[in-house]
Amino acid sequence: MRDQAECLRDLVKRKSASQPSKLPSSGIKIYTVASGKGGVGKTNIAVNTAIALQKRGLKVMILDADLGMANVDVVLGIYPRVTLRDVMFGDKRLQDAVMRGPGGIRIIPGGSGMLEMTKLNSEAQKKLMRQFSQMDDIDILLIDTGAGISMNQLSFITFAHEVVLVTTPEPTAITDVYSVIKIISELKIKRKIKLIVNKASSDKMGRLTYMKLKKTAESFLNVELEYLGYVADDARVGNSVMKQVPFIMKYPNCLASQCIDKIAEQIVGVSIKGAKITTMSEVYNRLVKIFG
Ligand SMILES: Nc1ncnc2c1ncn2[C@@H]1O[C@H](COP(=O)(O)OP(=O)(O)OP(=O)(O)O)[C@@H](O)[C@H]1O
Ligand SMILES: [Mg+2]
Repeated sequence: MRDQAECLRDLVKRKSASQPSKLPSSGIKIYTVASGKGGVGKTNIAVNTAIALQKRGLKVMILDADLGMANVDVVLGIYPRVTLRDVMFGDKRLQDAVMRGPGGIRIIPGGSGMLEMTKLNSEAQKKLMRQFSQMDDIDILLIDTGAGISMNQLSFITFAHEVVLVTTPEPTAITDVYSVIKIISELKIKRKIKLIVNKASSDKMGRLTYMKLKKTAESFLNVELEYLGYVADDARVGNSVMKQVPFIMKYPNCLASQCIDKIAEQIVGVSIKGAKITTMSEVYNRLVKIFG
């Protein structure tokens, strides 16, 4: 049986061919949100940041890439009528599977269908790619992944232009996110990694957590860690999850929403300066290359 190290080495070989190294002047900028420990707030951060970015005039799509469990739709309280499987094996179009969320964000419910997508015959792949290429009015694609560091998570990190790791100040979360940073560094997947510290009591605590990780990562690993911001530990978050309304919609002025607004401002700055990338058909091609 192939061990994990061997699989990871294979991934590294393939990733050099599929990593988005050059950023053309227009297109889509892809962010993958990942973590070590589960339940640290990835989905909430992805959904609320997407809405904050859309409010600032960017067109945002979220890809729910937690291949085990649906995440994004639960937080939003909207459920897909058409899945990617219906698109691939039925007569539904990709546009039918894309859901509209609050503020006009769009969501592709990925689910387990995503892996099958890469195993279609060439005729079916062409059909799907044509549909992907019809969705080009997107500025930012946010990929919400499951916890931990499996081959799938690594593939989505490889696939994106930017990786955003989420941790909390808890020692267990820090240890786990450090392991993720270590793997990204050892496999030379990314040189720069962005970090969000969630459930922090203050910006000071967020920065303290970041500094701890940055010192260790930059001393022992060949990566640069960048602080994208913190999100306050705020009871309104849990409250909104219960009501299935994103907190930035329900409580736009609460502490957590203010933090998300700051993060969105940073992303807008970078996406304008650094420009963006590929078309959706290239997004699709890259997915197939990495997972196929
Ligand atoms: N800033 C916050 N303040 C208070 N509670 C929070 C905050 N962020 C997240 N939570 C709580 O943590 C729970 C888990 O959040 P979320 O589902 O976004 O995590 P996740 O990292 O996506 O989890 P998974 O790894 O299972 O996908 C939420 O339901 C919410 O109750
Ligand atoms: Mg999640």
